[in-house]
Amino acid sequence: MNRLVLERAQRYEQEYEKSIDPMERPAFHMSARVGWINDPNGFSYYQGKVHLFYQYHPYDAHWGPMHWGHATTTDLLHWKYEPTVLAPDQPYDQDGCFSGSAITLEDGRQLLIYTGIVRTEQGVLQTQNGAIGDGHTYQKLIENPLIDRHQLPNNASPYAFRDPKIWKEKDTYYLIVANQNEKGSGQILKYESGDGLQWNYTGKLLENTYAIGDMWECPDYFILDGQEVYIGSAMHADGSDLEYPEGFVSFYMTGFPEETHRSVDHGLDFYAPQTLAMPDGRRILIAWMQDWKTSRLHSKEWTWFGQMTIPRELSLKDGALIQWPVKEVERLREASISFGKVIRNLPVCSDMELEITNTSWYVLTWESEDISVSLRYDGGWTMIRTDIFGQHRRTSCLYGNPYCLRILSDRKSLEIFVDHGKQAFTTTWYGCSLFRTLTITGQDMMDVKGNLFPLKEKA
Ligand code: FRU
Repeated sequence: MNRLVLERAQRYEQEYEKSIDPMERPAFHMSARVGWINDPNGFSYYQGKVHLFYQYHPYDAHWGPMHWGHATTTDLLHWKYEPTVLAPDQPYDQDGCFSGSAITLEDGRQLLIYTGIVRTEQGVLQTQNGAIGDGHTYQKLIENPLIDRHQLPNNASPYAFRDPKIWKEKDTYYLIVANQNEKGSGQILKYESGDGLQWNYTGKLLENTYAIGDMWECPDYFILDGQEVYIGSAMHADGSDLEYPEGFVSFYMTGFPEETHRSVDHGLDFYAPQTLAMPDGRRILIAWMQDWKTSRLHSKEWTWFGQMTIPRELSLKDGALIQWPVKEVERLREASISFGKVIRNLPVCSDMELEITNTSWYVLTWESEDISVSLRYDGGWTMIRTDIFGQHRRTSCLYGNPYCLRILSDRKSLEIFVDHGKQAFTTTWYGCSLFRTLTITGQDMMDVKGNLFPLKEKA
């Protein structure tokens, strides 16, 4: 294997990460080591650690030929960067190693399954490939590509065929992968294998039939509390259904074959989530804390861009997907500080629980000299607005009961969990100063209770 491309990336990240001031990074969210990151890949528990690989272009804070970067953690909060594991260096992935997933093989080695892309005159040809390793280094397989256009059903495009998610039940490996039919509608294809290397097409898990967006990227499928759950990310959603915004949206479906698509996160900075099963039985989700529309909001000079959400534990309640920050976050809490309706000297990082009563509307506003983020409930809608003064303003909405909130605040993001995790709002920003105040306004009788825990910035 031509390891020069990979070694160049490994040397580059080691050298250039030193130029990034740790105080400029989020304190407890995983962020780009250098350059650009997008989707989480191969989110897995392997050899006593959680491994997170990710879409990565180390050389530039903008998207480029995709590598797989790598980080590990033992507490789901503090990440250790590991050397990049995959680089585009083979005839079947020469233009990029796109998203995928990971599984432990019978013999204890780890298999990464990813999409290789090659630009051709007809389009960007996409195939599914494997690399096997030990948690540090991975070798691409001589059998690659493992799945290519010859294993596609009729009418399926080989140019929109990506993001394999693998899992195992008893002796069989299963894989689902995103595809578009020749009319441009998303569908999710299923494959089976006895060894993880030789795959047979077995049918379609889902077909979009234009219900939401066109291409469905980054599929995930698992059983949660005894029910089937599908999570995916749609390109070009029209936003006509109030459940999800326009553009790039991650949605979930529970209790198949019910055809409802609900937004996983109503903020604008959330896409391509992937889940893993922890040995203690928890199903944990992590997502790219950005989406393609909002990912262009940064300047050329930056040396890094992109971060992941806090890992979120999933459960189901009445068919709704509940997300809650992993319990490990609570270990970072310092003593709760008392607060009123105007909070000055906000801790840089915090975990806040809020219960707002006796008012039919309210507004929470976080502010510094160059940014304001507000959460505004008007009795029907809740809207989040992120306003970077002089640059841009973005809004998104949800409908539901927002009187009970949990808010995680880091240097460059707010993750707001509404109504005990039934809905979430995630927003990020870059290049702004830290918030100075949080103001809570509502009717005169409004009562605000809760806890404000500053979070330790280092373990
Ligand atoms: C989703 C996505 C994937 C693709 C990857 C490329 O965000 O478009 O479908 O594999 O990003 O970086």
